[in-house]
Amino acid sequence: TETGCLSIIVLGASGDLAKKKTFPALFNLYQQGFLQLNDVHIFGYSRTQLCDDELRERIKGYLPVENKVSSNVFNFLQLIKYVSGAYDSPEGFQELDKAISEHETSKKSHEGSSRRLFYLALPPSVYPQVCKMIKIFCTNKSGLSGWTRVVFEKPFGKDLASAEELSAQIGELFDEPQIYRIDHYLGKELVQNLLVLRFANRFFLPLWNRDNISNVQIVFREDFGTEGRGGYFDQYGIIRDIIQNHLLQIFCLVAMEKPVSTKPEHIRDEKVKVLQSVNPIRDEDVVLGQYRGYKDDPTVPDDSVTPTFATVVLHIHNERWEGVPFILKAGKALNSRKAEIRVQFKDVPGDIFKSSKQGRNEFVIRLQPSEAMYMKLTVKQPGLEMTAAQSELDLSYRQRYQEVVIPEAYERLILDTIKGDQQHFVRRDELKAAWEIFTPLLHRIDEGDLQPQGYEPGSRGPAEADELLEKAGYVQTHGY
Ligand code: BG6
Repeated sequence: TETGCLSIIVLGASGDLAKKKTFPALFNLYQQGFLQLNDVHIFGYSRTQLCDDELRERIKGYLPVENKVSSNVFNFLQLIKYVSGAYDSPEGFQELDKAISEHETSKKSHEGSSRRLFYLALPPSVYPQVCKMIKIFCTNKSGLSGWTRVVFEKPFGKDLASAEELSAQIGELFDEPQIYRIDHYLGKELVQNLLVLRFANRFFLPLWNRDNISNVQIVFREDFGTEGRGGYFDQYGIIRDIIQNHLLQIFCLVAMEKPVSTKPEHIRDEKVKVLQSVNPIRDEDVVLGQYRGYKDDPTVPDDSVTPTFATVVLHIHNERWEGVPFILKAGKALNSRKAEIRVQFKDVPGDIFKSSKQGRNEFVIRLQPSEAMYMKLTVKQPGLEMTAAQSELDLSYRQRYQEVVIPEAYERLILDTIKGDQQHFVRRDELKAAWEIFTPLLHRIDEGDLQPQGYEPGSRGPAEADELLEKAGYVQTHGY
């Protein structure tokens, strides 16, 4: 990491995301020495009138408990200053700039550098105006060396047109290397592992294609509903909230071709290509659901048809994947909290053990909870009989890497923004390609052409989703 003066400015500092994710991630980085290496100050900005200590007090309760060494907490909180103002207020942003500049010129040690990281923990509706304010009032004009970077949270747009408009507005103010669109799933350990797994293992190289793989599932389940976020959620729905971003990013890493190198641009080039190879989604490839009780939330309209569950089957039109369904499934208020990738292989040709009766080979990557990878395979049932049975080769991270503390996604991604590494962020053309896939379907849902099926909270979701899975060729294995 470079040394020198670093200012991290959290806009939306009194909001939920900042309290729950951004500040705790910064605290973890601080504790591990990443921020102390720099001459760092953290600035909070939002509309709420607060003094420094009031903001610190609000943040304190959310810092990760297991790491709470009280002197560290105190020292970390002292790094935080607060400025209040509206998101379109020149005075507010002038004041913010003044506070940052004071920090930059207050110490000799940073040799006159200015590195400003703006973190927008804000709703996208204010992105353009906030970016304008940052550009006009808060980019370093004093001739100091350094950089300005801006981090955006999702949702980045609501469909293709709105995302492109937002990209264009922001693109007039900042260059792509300054723009970090966060998808926090890209910060998860087992998502980051996908590239290594696929391209550094001889095992997988010859098998990873339509000749051997029957279907791929990428699944996200939560065992709670939209409590407290119904107002936000209802405007977006599960496809925009989870599938178009988190699951599609995973899809890219599972399906893309081998990049020329591990350089961020080479990786992102391949992601764009595979997205562009996805066929238009047909109605028969979609099942939508809405859990019963969703509309009891007072912030959700009584006639809402917003899906809280969706299964969407994607088909890729290329040499590697023609005919292999990629099943993306996400739901709220289901029977468990889990995110996993299941790669199911075809039956063994000329099978003499009737092993397909035991279940197919399947390679499962569990992102959460309890990170793990396991392969379902057929072995001889130990004992006197010569019978085939299904077993597992299991790499459970808790057991295998007991000494390692797996970093939080946000922690890793914020560190990347400080280092200037864009590998795990969504590039503009990638975002466009992602919206191109889902926009026609989203418009049909918005217009009421596709209706969600009701499902019980705590269930597996609508039964139609299981039927779609079967139609896509997924064979339920024994015990799953
Ligand atoms: C967010 C979604 O992006 O991801 C939420 O807006 C969802 O609806 C969350 O709950 C899930 O993240 P994680 O890391 O807890 O799986």
